[in-house]
Amino acid sequence: MSKLWEGRFSKALDSHADDFNSSIHFDSRMFRQDITGSIAHATMLAARGIIGKEDADTIIAELEVILQDIENGTLSIDFAAEDIHMFVEAELTKRIGDVGKRLHTARSRNDQVAVDIRMYLRDEVAVILEGLRKLIWVLSELAQNNTDAIMPGYTHLQRAQPILFSHHILAYAMMLTRDVGRLQDALKRMNQSPLGACALAGTTYPTDRNQTAAALGFDGICLNSIDAVSDRDFCVELLAALSTIMMHLSRFSEEIILWCSWEFQFVELDDSFTTGSSIMPQKKNADIAELVRGKTGRVYGDLMGTLTVLKGLPLAYNKDMQEDKESIFDAVDTVKMCLDVFTPMVQTIKVKKENMYSAAQKGFINATDLADYLTKKGIPFRTAYKITGQLVAYCIQTGTVLEKLPLDYLKEQHPAFEEDVYSEIALETCVSKRISAGSTSPQSVETQIAFLQNWLGGSL
Ligand code: ARG
Repeated sequence: MSKLWEGRFSKALDSHADDFNSSIHFDSRMFRQDITGSIAHATMLAARGIIGKEDADTIIAELEVILQDIENGTLSIDFAAEDIHMFVEAELTKRIGDVGKRLHTARSRNDQVAVDIRMYLRDEVAVILEGLRKLIWVLSELAQNNTDAIMPGYTHLQRAQPILFSHHILAYAMMLTRDVGRLQDALKRMNQSPLGACALAGTTYPTDRNQTAAALGFDGICLNSIDAVSDRDFCVELLAALSTIMMHLSRFSEEIILWCSWEFQFVELDDSFTTGSSIMPQKKNADIAELVRGKTGRVYGDLMGTLTVLKGLPLAYNKDMQEDKESIFDAVDTVKMCLDVFTPMVQTIKVKKENMYSAAQKGFINATDLADYLTKKGIPFRTAYKITGQLVAYCIQTGTVLEKLPLDYLKEQHPAFEEDVYSEIALETCVSKRISAGSTSPQSVETQIAFLQNWLGGSL
């Protein structure tokens, strides 16, 4: 394909170099943004008298047709073109002749690509935000439907204290609300228009950058033309937010995988979100959760790749920056894909309350409550802690549990023990008596669900 810059050159680009240089295989997905941006640019050029009104009308009308043609499949992208910007401009000129050659006045591909990516990502982030809200909704619902399920809470993956399953699930919902906040934050900084910065230094034409910014839905313009075309910090910021989402989904996936194991059996995934083994007939594997966990690695890689590409780049545009797109596209695609499977997988999960409860009955997870019981009777906490530790050791030796120790034996260890100790260290009490704000008590769980309901802006 002939190049738009061919005037200066006496030789065609080597074919390997041409392929190497080309980005159309991955940037063609921005065709809508590219054409919309060009329409706004042509409109502004005419409004400012930089090109004639009739020419602008011809350009805009044809760009609209090109957009439709790509959308309905009549026009296929020519992958011999260097990038989507060149393709659209060449197609326009092919269709309307010399008038098409006026479009690139007071513009460069450097500001064009910067505006296209921002617009593309804005839309993708909106989809991801919707996906996160849906997941938060599903988690709140799961919590609400299981407020009676008690499970062991863990630290160091050792049984620690009894908690409500709902409380555990809501922890993830809270994390995801911050993920939403991070994306919204990134959007704010991303939504400044670089269009009109041209190659790097601005232009001698009397352009109106605010007009194109407003037409394209930006909140304002990048005030420094070099900054506008040089930085991809908005990609880095978004990648960091996406990596954090994946980190959360990955931890959750890991727990789901554990909970599905025979060792735990706390939940069962629906058959539609599990797979079998080609050799072991008994297997039901949590492949979907494992893949979400695995895909976290590639999103982290996208973040590190982009940071590394940008590191040490002199201002302003450098071709290295073309590498931004595959990473950021991969990351948004991956997060969308993960949310699309993760949410229904969680929505259809079967909670095995009895197994959670019987796991909570083992492991002395009411030991803190026993120590607290003595403390509330006036014994200093450290002393109470020691007595409880000795009782646990005795239980381990004799193969029993704290709530089964006879009162006589307890009284021998400390006279403060009374009959009420048994109700105080019952799992239900351990949970319901945790009255501090944000605790695992049913009341706190209700407060959290109400908060999320309000945060989501309506009923669950
Ligand atoms: N395909 C290029 C990119 O993605 C577009 C900008 C090219 N600009 C240039 N001066 N070569 O970065």
